[in-house]
Amino acid sequence: MSYDGMPTPGRNDACWCGSGKKYKKCHYEFDKRCERLWADGEEVLPRELWKSREDIEGIKVSAEVNKGILDYVGEHIQAGVSTMDINDWVNDYLAAHDAVSADLNFEGYPYSVCTSINSVICHGFPNKDDVLKDGDIINVDMSTIKGGYFSDSSRMYCIGNVDPEWRRLVETCHESVKAGLAVVKPWAHLGDVGAAVNKVCTEAGFSVVREYGGHGIGKEFHEDPWVGFTTEAGTGPIMFPGMCFTIEPMVNMGAPDITTDKDNGWIVRTKDGSPSAQWEVQLVVTDDGYELLSW
Ligand code: MF3
Ligand code: CO
Repeated sequence: MSYDGMPTPGRNDACWCGSGKKYKKCHYEFDKRCERLWADGEEVLPRELWKSREDIEGIKVSAEVNKGILDYVGEHIQAGVSTMDINDWVNDYLAAHDAVSADLNFEGYPYSVCTSINSVICHGFPNKDDVLKDGDIINVDMSTIKGGYFSDSSRMYCIGNVDPEWRRLVETCHESVKAGLAVVKPWAHLGDVGAAVNKVCTEAGFSVVREYGGHGIGKEFHEDPWVGFTTEAGTGPIMFPGMCFTIEPMVNMGAPDITTDKDNGWIVRTKDGSPSAQWEVQLVVTDDGYELLSW
């Protein structure tokens, strides 16, 4: 047995990863490295989170649909469109591409997409009465299942003339995701990512929501690890090549405090009513950095 309970093959046996190669020529060195880190007291995640090349190809097929939906939204969103119109576009696009929403019925979530306007932080419900108007900012968060693989990303859309300070919030959030990506590399700590995100946002005078984070993803919607964005560098689990997760900070103009809608238990808003922004990307850790899968 090993640190994660997965049996260790003999050196000449087939590798646990399914490559068909001998263990000593496949994940032997990888496992030694994980074991050393674990013996040193580091948090090493279970190897069941590792994604094969085939898994990554499957996730990319799912992500093509996910990105296509967000592109479509970008081409059609404007003042006068309701968030239920967006939900309808999503359903039509999914049906035309042999895919389904990962959001719909997830823990009882009742729509195919999350649409979060202005002070709504996340999990905004599509609604025919929520009609976009000049100056709004909206996050559209899309998650797709296709071929058994999950993809997840979200973008911000600015409607017409947006207040410069609100635009700066949207852009800073986007920059913070890029800063997080820049420190993704194998064998570094996941906490480095949240630290990089948080630094960009707080230096710009904004605050990062503590209660929600990113997540592992691929074969399930939400896998380990949980990815916080107010973390300290040098802390948290070790990122290993083949790990797939999201970076998706929620950034508030005012205080970081949140409040959840009492009627539906889903819609999350800023406590102080200030606007909030979120961008989400999905990536896989590679041998020398990362590859973006969905954005
Ligand atoms: N797409 C969100 C995420 O980034 C999850 C939404 S869960 C839902 O993890 F049920 F609200 F859709
Ligand atoms: Co996500």
